[in-house]
Amino acid sequence: MNSIQILIVDFGSQYTLVIGRTLRELGVRSLILPPKKVEKWLKNNTLKAVILSGSNYSVHNEGAPEIPKVLDISGKKYFILGICYGMQLLSHKLGGKVERPIGHREYGPSLVKVNTKHSLFNKVKETTEVWASHGDTVIKLPKNFNSIATSSGIAAMSDKDNRVMGIQFHPEVIDTKEGKKILQNFLNISGCKKDWNPLNLVEQIQKEVLDIVNKDKNIKKVILGVSGGVDSTTLARVLSPVLGDRLICVAIDTGGFRKNELAELKENTKSALGKNKVKNLVVISAQEEFIKNISGTIDGEEKRAKFRTLYKKIFEEQIAKYNAEFIVQGTLATDIIESGKAGQSTMIKTHHNVGLSWKVKDLHPFKNLFKYEVRELARVLNLPKAIYERNPFPGPGLFLRVVGVPVSKENIELVREADKTVNDILKKHNLDKDISQLIVALLGVNSVGVKGDERVYGHSLAIRAVQTADFMTAKGYYFPEDVVNEITNALTKHKNIVRVFFDMTPKPPATTEFE
Ligand code: XMP
Repeated sequence: MNSIQILIVDFGSQYTLVIGRTLRELGVRSLILPPKKVEKWLKNNTLKAVILSGSNYSVHNEGAPEIPKVLDISGKKYFILGICYGMQLLSHKLGGKVERPIGHREYGPSLVKVNTKHSLFNKVKETTEVWASHGDTVIKLPKNFNSIATSSGIAAMSDKDNRVMGIQFHPEVIDTKEGKKILQNFLNISGCKKDWNPLNLVEQIQKEVLDIVNKDKNIKKVILGVSGGVDSTTLARVLSPVLGDRLICVAIDTGGFRKNELAELKENTKSALGKNKVKNLVVISAQEEFIKNISGTIDGEEKRAKFRTLYKKIFEEQIAKYNAEFIVQGTLATDIIESGKAGQSTMIKTHHNVGLSWKVKDLHPFKNLFKYEVRELARVLNLPKAIYERNPFPGPGLFLRVVGVPVSKENIELVREADKTVNDILKKHNLDKDISQLIVALLGVNSVGVKGDERVYGHSLAIRAVQTADFMTAKGYYFPEDVVNEITNALTKHKNIVRVFFDMTPKPPATTEFE
């Protein structure tokens, strides 16, 4: 593999990994490093360009992340692009001025007027829709810099040699309509060539895993956690040819699956391993244990913590049983970001498979990838369409969809049936194709209803469908009115369901799941 051409310095933005993903979509590999690791890495590597990420810091905060000196922000060594905080920091360090003018805060969609003559905005519309999220802003440019875009203030800047540039908005976010074009322009300006494709990635992951596993000649068994989802199924497919019978796929039936999901899990793993390797799939039945543990709390994070503890205990038992030396999981970049384990990003939700300390070595070969990239791997590896187009589903499953009321067998069953009902209606109307994920949740908000002239005091169900490419941001989906009525009628047939709410809140501020 060629060396990395472009480095992303991570100052802790939620979107840093999205920059890497967007560059890969443009066919270019990149590396993301926290500032303190840059100098050491650069000793053995060469670069063409650097992107400085956003951050939740202000440049004026104590402890605000700094640009590593070795990157030389004069632009003599590398082409540099600062995004949001990255632009503010460049400006602050080069003699400009960054302030937080009262009432200036930009958050969400905004219109920007760009200088189309500047190569960073080549072929971009003069007035373009962008996504911004900042309180601080550059109010005075450094010497030798020009403003190359404006919104209510300076929205982008460039030095006179076009080597050091800054953008106040986020080109990596899908809601910046021409963001990809802007990043492609930066790749062109800095001379970065295409060097990424999914089949290379499969080979690279296989080689990495083999190198690690083969270092220890005694490795006899590697345990892979599988859930039937696209990530772990694809990982089974990637690893099966190189590990052969050394690979044992372990699935836990937690009792939190949707209808028919266990059967799908078996089918999917069979497709990944090949029919003659089905013996290498082990399903552990642990419904009672999970319900008993998780029913003790209604707090989302506590449920996740309990799920994680039990998940780890069961995997440790399997590791011991098979005398395995490694555990491999299909953890994605998004799981790591939201668990607060990516550089300096903050914790949103605990993920059951991130940050566990195992007695054996653990590997996360997909840790830098996003869902859509794993789907691409699944596709090039000829897995069935049903797998690479499958909607995501969280590890803790339906336990996260009983909200504000204790999890019980009955509640889980109710949500499971309701989920099936809504899914069937969506399929019937051919709407499932428009939706990235459907969530049907039981809300423990009791309210009064009337059924057959009788007063009923019962629960509510929430229906939430989102549209997204990367699950870092999402739009709430608006169902057609007739479908809303059909869903509501079907669900309120249950004796304990009085109301059905439809939730269209985008992410942010909401997340996809309720917990
Ligand atoms: P949120 O709710 O954080 O979810 O917007 C983003 C995507 O991740 C899924 N998700 C999980 N997946 N383990 C998983 O494997 C988890 O603990 C988990 N929590 C959320 C969620 O369903 C959505 O697709």
